[in-house]
Amino acid sequence: MKRAILFLFGFLLAVAGYLAVAVFLFKVPPSPPLPAGAALVAPSVLLEPAAFLSAGRGAAVVRKVLNSRLPFTRAVRVSSYSRPPQSYDIQLRAPTTGPVKAGDLLVARFFLRKPLFPRTKARVDFVFEQAGGDYKKSIVLPLEPGPRWRRVDVPFRSAGDYPAGGAQAAFRAGFGPQAVDIGGFELVNYGRAPGRVPLTAFGLYEGREAGAPWRAEAEQRIEKFRKASIAVTVLNPDGTPAPGAAVEIKQLKHAFSFGCAVNSKVLFDKGPEGDKRRYKETFLKLFNSATIENGLKWPFWEGDQKRWADRTAAWLAANGVKLRGHTLIWPGWEHLPVSAGKLRKNQEKLRAAVRRHITEEASYYRGKAADWDVLNEPVGHPEVLALLGQGEAAEWFRLARAADPSARLFVNDYGVLDDFGANSGQQDGYEAFIRSLLDEKAPLDGIGLQSHFKWDLTPPARLLTVLDRFQGLGKPLLATEFDIDITDEELQADYLRDFMTALFSHPAVEGITLWGFWEGVHSEPAPALYRKDWSKKPAAEVLEELLLKKWRTAAGGAADKRGKFGARGFLGSYEVRVSFANGATAAAAFVLPKEGASVTVKPGK
Ligand code: XIL
Repeated sequence: MKRAILFLFGFLLAVAGYLAVAVFLFKVPPSPPLPAGAALVAPSVLLEPAAFLSAGRGAAVVRKVLNSRLPFTRAVRVSSYSRPPQSYDIQLRAPTTGPVKAGDLLVARFFLRKPLFPRTKARVDFVFEQAGGDYKKSIVLPLEPGPRWRRVDVPFRSAGDYPAGGAQAAFRAGFGPQAVDIGGFELVNYGRAPGRVPLTAFGLYEGREAGAPWRAEAEQRIEKFRKASIAVTVLNPDGTPAPGAAVEIKQLKHAFSFGCAVNSKVLFDKGPEGDKRRYKETFLKLFNSATIENGLKWPFWEGDQKRWADRTAAWLAANGVKLRGHTLIWPGWEHLPVSAGKLRKNQEKLRAAVRRHITEEASYYRGKAADWDVLNEPVGHPEVLALLGQGEAAEWFRLARAADPSARLFVNDYGVLDDFGANSGQQDGYEAFIRSLLDEKAPLDGIGLQSHFKWDLTPPARLLTVLDRFQGLGKPLLATEFDIDITDEELQADYLRDFMTALFSHPAVEGITLWGFWEGVHSEPAPALYRKDWSKKPAAEVLEELLLKKWRTAAGGAADKRGKFGARGFLGSYEVRVSFANGATAAAAFVLPKEGASVTVKPGK
C-alpha cells in the first residue's frame, strides 16, 4: 500500500516536472564546438533511460523529460524513494563507445538540475570507471544540483587503457529520497591534449575562471586583514634625518601559519642523502609550522617511532619551525594501539587508559608543541566517545591543559571544507560537537578543518560561507591537512591557489597546513607537489609563487627629506637594511603586527 502511494506520488512528480520543463524558458550557454582531433567517446544518445538504469535494488523511477527550449533534446529524471545500501544501487550508466588510453583527457558535459518537488536537497555523483573488474576510478565527482539547469563541464584524465565498452560513465543517485534531472550528456575524448581544454562555462569548480567575483573581494580582504603599515625613519649619527639613504625591507617570517606535514622517515631513516637534503631545504624555505605526520599518534608513541618524533621535534625547534602536535586521541578503533583496542569490553579500564595516555604524552612534550590536536575526528570516528559518553571529550581537553598549559588545544575533523562544502551531516555534527564542548567549558582554543580533497573541489565562494559559519563558534580556524588528490595537474594548481587565497583572505583563519609535499614519501603520487625527482608540478610553482613572492614583502627605496620611508607589508617579522650616502650601513629587526610598526634606523645601532 505504502509502495503504491509512493509510486503514485512519483508519477505525479514526473507529470509536474514535465510541465515545469515545458513551461519555463531557460537560458544556458551553448556547448563549445569540438576542437580538431577530439572524438566523442560516448554520444549523447546514451542518455536513454533503458540504456542507463542498471540498479534493480534501489527503489527508483527513471523517466524521459522532454523539452524543446534547451540545447539538448533529451533529459531524464531519476526519482529515488529510499536510501539504498550503496549510492550506486541507483545509477545511470553508459559504456564507452570508443577506446580510451591511460592519460587521455576526457571531458564529460551535461546539464543538471533538481526539480522543484520534492523540496529535499539532491546529490548525484558523476563517475568514470572501469566497467567491471575492480571498477578502477578515473573520477568520482559529487554534484549538488540546484533548481535551475546548470551546465557542468568535467575535465579529467583516464586512469587506465580501455577498449570500447571497457569503461563507463555513471551517475550515482542512491543518496536518499530525492529527484534529479540530467540532460544533454556527452563524453569527449581529447586524447593526449596538453594543458587546458577550452571550457566556455566553468571548469570543475565554480569560480575557477580568472574574472570570478570572489577574487577581487578576497584580494581586498587580504590587503585589509593580512597587511599593515611600516614606517621607517632613518637618522644620522647626530640624530638628524638622513634623506636619500637607501632603505631595504625584507620579510623573514609570516605571522600567518603556512605549515606542512613532516615525515620523520625521510629526515632520519636510511635513504639517499640528496633527497634528505632537498627535503629539508624545501621544507624550511616554505613553511613556518609543521605537523609530524604519524609519529605522535598513540600507536606510534607506543612503538619505536617515538625516538624519531623526538628527533623531528628537536630539528624543527632548532630551525625555528612551530610544532603542531597531532594527535593525543583519535577515537576510532583502528587508530588506537592494540592494547587500548583490547579494552573495548571494559569501559572503565578504557576510560582510564585514554586519560592516562593523554596526560603522559602531553606531559612528555610539555612546552614543545605550540598546538595540540587533542582530539582527532570525533565526528568521523565517534566509536570511543559513544562508549565512554560525549562528556568524556571535555575531560580529555582538561587533562591536556593541565599537562601542557602553554599549548593551544584543538579539535580536528574532515568533511567540512572538502566534500564539495556540501556534507551537511559532517558540518552539522562538527558544529554541534564543538558547541557541546564549549557548553561543558572544555579548554578549547582552536578548530581544525582537515581539508583533504579529491574531486570534491569546493567552490571558493562556498568555502567562505562555510568559514563564516564556523567563525560563529568564536575560535580561530585552521586548515590542518590540506591536499588535492587528483591527477589533472593544472586543476590541482588552480585549486591550490584558490583554496589558499580564499582561506588567507578570511579573518578567522590563522593558518593552512599542507599534508605533505614530496612524492617520495607520499602514500599516493597524485597529491604530492614535487615529483620524486624534485621537478615541480604546477601546484608547486603556485605554492612557491604565493609563499615566496606574492605574499612575502620585499620593498625598498630612498628615504624622503624627513628621512622617512613607508611601505605596507604582510604581518610577520622583518629586517630593514639602510645604506647611507657616505657608504655607512645599518640594520634593524622588527615585527609587524596588525597595528603597524615604526622603526628607527641609525648607524652604529
Ligand atoms: C595519515 C598519514 O598521512 C598516513 O601516513 C597514515 O598511514 C595514516 O594517516 N586524517 C588525519 C591524518 O588526521 O592523521 C591522516 O594521516 C590522514 C587523515
